[in-house]
Amino acid sequence: MKSTLEHLDPDRCIAGLDKAVRVLLGDPVARRASPAEGVREDNLDPELRRHAAALMRVNHCGEVCAQALYQGQAAGSSNESLRHALERAASEESDHLAWSAERVRELGGHLSLLNPFWYAGSFALGYAAGRLGDGWNLGFLAETEHQVEEHLQGHIERLGNRDTRTRAIIEGMQREEAEHRQNAERLGARELPEVVAVAMRVAARVMTTLSYRF
Ligand SMILES: [Fe+2]
Ligand SMILES: [Fe+2]
Repeated sequence: MKSTLEHLDPDRCIAGLDKAVRVLLGDPVARRASPAEGVREDNLDPELRRHAAALMRVNHCGEVCAQALYQGQAAGSSNESLRHALERAASEESDHLAWSAERVRELGGHLSLLNPFWYAGSFALGYAAGRLGDGWNLGFLAETEHQVEEHLQGHIERLGNRDTRTRAIIEGMQREEAEHRQNAERLGARELPEVVAVAMRVAARVMTTLSYRF
């Protein structure tokens, strides 16, 4: 195995920085139509719109983290084909980033001010997972996607049937997170120790609580 420093080649570092700047400062453009397209706006209550915008801000923040995790995991992995699979998955996830940002704005909300902080932390975490080898790297990915699926289910329940456009986006993302988890399992994800899964839940709870407000 290459040493950590040998592993970081300058071209990939620059590409990674470029990616970070685009995720954090760019206006993401989805390649596929939002699941909300053609769905009638039925959330007209100011208080509920604020709540839905805050939930979608949390989801957007989660997608910023997903971009950073995938990039970190790809950067930390020495398996060329896995690296390409991770980079491809990150580009699929970028639609989620665009759909959630668009819905936050439609609802009159703002994106999280803490995104750069979560991006940096998630990249470091992903990189560490990547360095642990394919089985753990994929295991980390599968557990992340599993927790995101559960988290999105919580949002669906909190919104009920009161905001059909937001719900359509969340359900669309949830379906794809399930596919990402299944892909990771098919590729040989190892099951993470319970203590790691619990630590990931605690970190996610901190992130979701803060990004709901800021
Ligand atoms: Fe996603
Ligand atoms: Fe995903």
